[in-house]
Amino acid sequence: MDKLLIRGGRRLAGEVTVSGAKNAALPDLCAALLTAQPVLLRNVPRLQDVATTLKLLRNMGAHAERSESRPDEVTIDAGDVGKPEAPYDLVKTMRASILVLGPLLARFGEARVSLPGGCAIGSRPVDQHIKGLQAMGAEITVEHGYILAKARRLKGARITTDMVTVTGTENLLMAASLADGETVLENAAQEPEITDLAEMLIAMGARIEGHGTSKIRVQGVERLHAPANGHRIIPDRIECGTFLCAVAAAGGEVLLKNARADHLDAVVDKLLEAGVKIESGADWIRVAASGRPKAVGFRTSEYPAFPTDMQAQFMALNCIADGTAKVTETIFENRFMHVNELMRLGAHIEVDGHTAVVQGVPQLSGATVMATDLRASASLVIAGLVAEGETVVDRIYHLDRGYDRMEEKLRAVGADIERIQ
Ligand code: EPZ
Repeated sequence: MDKLLIRGGRRLAGEVTVSGAKNAALPDLCAALLTAQPVLLRNVPRLQDVATTLKLLRNMGAHAERSESRPDEVTIDAGDVGKPEAPYDLVKTMRASILVLGPLLARFGEARVSLPGGCAIGSRPVDQHIKGLQAMGAEITVEHGYILAKARRLKGARITTDMVTVTGTENLLMAASLADGETVLENAAQEPEITDLAEMLIAMGARIEGHGTSKIRVQGVERLHAPANGHRIIPDRIECGTFLCAVAAAGGEVLLKNARADHLDAVVDKLLEAGVKIESGADWIRVAASGRPKAVGFRTSEYPAFPTDMQAQFMALNCIADGTAKVTETIFENRFMHVNELMRLGAHIEVDGHTAVVQGVPQLSGATVMATDLRASASLVIAGLVAEGETVVDRIYHLDRGYDRMEEKLRAVGADIERIQ
């Protein structure tokens, strides 16, 4: 099992190119199921979760290949999908597999998708996905751990989800694109990844408006075609935010290319409060930090508020900051598993339910720590960059699910980090 060995104390300097967004790539890959024509996706990150999704699509009978000559391009041809299914052995490795449910039901009128298990950060139910599809006329039963769904043709409906759900909004948006009539999604998620998916669907002939707001209106069409000259996936705002926190903690100056500061307003505001210098343009962010950051409290919430996917990384920054910070996690019930590992590095953190109080210490000390989930892994890497001595982060298969060659990018800006067995 791979580990990362980090020797802390190095400042970071140079340039990093941000990869395509994992949480846009996954729904966009599934959206290719909505047409019989081959779909070209650009700026597809090289991640384990993307590889799993390609396997899932191939398992159904679609062709899904990453280009040899242009490795950030992927073509999916769902012309002859013969098996509209997502089996447990694939779904259990990646919950986002649930994103095939809406497209399969909309295009093939049937789907058999394993219920995604929970994961380390929470139970992660999909009741809202099911409720919305039933509102569109789908007959859905859950048997032996599988969602069995049937619908001659989905009908447009007005759907208000009980809470804001990112993949729930994405599933229903894809299903509505081919439904008969108008669908209105109330309480819709507003993340940039929703907008990215909607723009891809519009390029495929879908009729959508209001994406990026809490109310999305869709007029269903008979069929969809491939986007005329492919679809380019937006940059990964969470990878970008992770690097911003790394520089803020380790010190130095880094230029992030292919970065969208306008997707990270809430995180940038908190970093400015911590004393970090940030400038940005349309597709770049320059971040500079020297001296000890100030402790900054925050509360996670749905976009455009502070993203839950940045909570662990910013907490690592608070571990070495000057002062005490209160961190509140409002989205997932168990997203503080990085706390115990950060405490092994010398952090002072007290958890009380959904709130963690972080008392900054001047110095962390290197140790062996264990990654428990994707963003917790990133948090431990950031802490390792600033800890005195050697830090070994174990079980970094979690990191590989959602970060494209992170240690290479960090080494390129001066970090002393390497992958070991
Ligand atoms: C997406 O997960 C992201 N994953 C997550 O990123 C992200 O943390 C999350 O949104 C919140 O922003 C992808 O986009 C692939 P939700 P998702 O449905 O869609 C509850 C990462 O690190 N809920 O918005 O699964 C749910 O339990 C990953 O990249 C229901 O109760 O999250 C949670 O408390 C981790 N029933 C809340 O809503 C449902 O049917 C928000 O979940 C759906 C959700």
